[in-house]
Amino acid sequence: MTIQKHQFDAVIIGGGGAGLRASLQLAEAGVKVAVLSKVFPTRSHTVAAQGGIAAALGNVSGDNWLWHMYDTIKGSDYLGDQDAIEFMCKNAAKAIIELEHFGMPFDRLENGKIFQRPFGGMTQNYGEKPISRTCAVADRTGHAMLHTLYQRNIRANTQFFVEWFALDLIRDAEGDVLGVIALEIETGDIHILQAKTTLLATGGAGRIFQASTNAFINTGDGLGMVTRAGLPLQDMEFWQFHPTGVLHAGVLITEGVRGEGGYLVNSNGERFMERYAPNAKDLASRDVVSRAIATEIKAGRGIGKNKDAVYLKLDHLGEDLISKRLPGIREIAKTFANVDPVEKPIPVVPTAHYMMGGVPTNLDGQVVEYSDGVEIKVKGLYAVGECACVSVHGANRLGSNSLLDLVVFGKAAGDSMVSEINASAAHKPLPADAADKTLARMARLEGRQGGERVADVGAAMRKTMQTHCGVFRFPDLLAQGVTAINEVAERAQHIEISDRSKVFNTARVEALELDNLIDVAAATMHAANNRKESRGAHAREDFSGRDDENWLAHSLYYKNGHKLVYKPVRLQPLTVEPFVPKARTY
Ligand code: FUM
Repeated sequence: MTIQKHQFDAVIIGGGGAGLRASLQLAEAGVKVAVLSKVFPTRSHTVAAQGGIAAALGNVSGDNWLWHMYDTIKGSDYLGDQDAIEFMCKNAAKAIIELEHFGMPFDRLENGKIFQRPFGGMTQNYGEKPISRTCAVADRTGHAMLHTLYQRNIRANTQFFVEWFALDLIRDAEGDVLGVIALEIETGDIHILQAKTTLLATGGAGRIFQASTNAFINTGDGLGMVTRAGLPLQDMEFWQFHPTGVLHAGVLITEGVRGEGGYLVNSNGERFMERYAPNAKDLASRDVVSRAIATEIKAGRGIGKNKDAVYLKLDHLGEDLISKRLPGIREIAKTFANVDPVEKPIPVVPTAHYMMGGVPTNLDGQVVEYSDGVEIKVKGLYAVGECACVSVHGANRLGSNSLLDLVVFGKAAGDSMVSEINASAAHKPLPADAADKTLARMARLEGRQGGERVADVGAAMRKTMQTHCGVFRFPDLLAQGVTAINEVAERAQHIEISDRSKVFNTARVEALELDNLIDVAAATMHAANNRKESRGAHAREDFSGRDDENWLAHSLYYKNGHKLVYKPVRLQPLTVEPFVPKARTY
């Protein structure tokens, strides 16, 4: 097979918010940058982000980035690295103003300033009361952000490779990353994109679960590439279940609904969050709200025929407010739940939403390994956004901190890549066998008779994850889950693509995506089984409390042998006093 070669200063894999913020930084610095995306960039999953982006602008009431920092650390159940969190919260206001200047059409307050709404876990004065900190474009903030960033990239002459699927990283004998091998989906041709710097911005992997708010494209492609390259994944046991996915559909109903005054009720019509989080109530952090809903359902107080959901009530907000601030939600509720929320409550259930773990990086977005107590940079490789773990979200992310993470660290990574590119003379030579393993992996899919079907193995994986690694985690289920996911991984080695479906490269892509999903699922199950405490979104029945003495540490998972090692949390911020771990209540 002929492999076509292309040379760039920087290659970015993924055309969502993180990738486009980084590419913009590079393109505007005059660097030759390519963005490779398996979908048209404005169809990336950032487009689905609804409620907003957090920054202590103080447009509605007094605010302070230190309060935001405190909320984020507390939200993370103290697993977030405090230097990274300080960096993000301190740079948030600047990032929003920058987006505004790029042309992002934020909603406005009466006085013309950017509109802000309350969101879960965001408080005034270190937990005193909820605060309006989340800047929004109605309930379509991600859509507005993605289109703004895409247009700025077009203006800056970023080169796009659309409907190209990244297969594997290229590493040389010294471990440096020299680019990526990719499949051009339309033609089936294989290409090498050689680069001085490569950035992973491939988003999440929520499709490992049966019920997910994530798009079908969220298959953890960057994480699969990283594990196959022998590098670790960090904190993969921590998955966020968004409290309000539409029952049976999984589609997201933004937390902005509760920010605007909506609330949850059980089958008795009781506003049950008052019992679980007396201060913050429905605006407690997501792990707390999701556990409360799961507990209500378990106690038989769920709504509907199967009592397997609760109601999100917003009819009292009035049609005017709903149409102005939550128009997309009204559409979604009508389409997927067959209710008009102006009149009736929406049936909702906790739904897999966000991966707190990912590829470990430093504050410049550079991927790091960990050895003998020291972090070592992987030369040429960067990661940002949901696929990365910097770590600002720790064991539980606060809503509206993810869009912020994308732009703050996307920019930082772009700057750092420009410096690395400017400091390096020429491209390093590619190893002669750069594509061999990838081609063997592709060949595995061809010509087999009587093998496994992608759809069957994928369904087995999703069922395993949903059953064994959900909102609450049980020791026997976790142990069985490890065996079950290992079996699913073995089945995936025997996938067959039928001759008929070979006509379309999309069938190949689905099989290759499954490889990536299974790596993510295995990392999640092994890391969850091994963490013997409850922290943030990882809630074990057998270890109900947080154990800072033994487990205030990030997990690092290696595919080879499913090895797990642990490294300390960075508790020292950059310039301010640390926030000492304490009991977490809302
Ligand atoms: O509820 C939401 O609008 C989701 C926001 C987020 O995950 O940050």
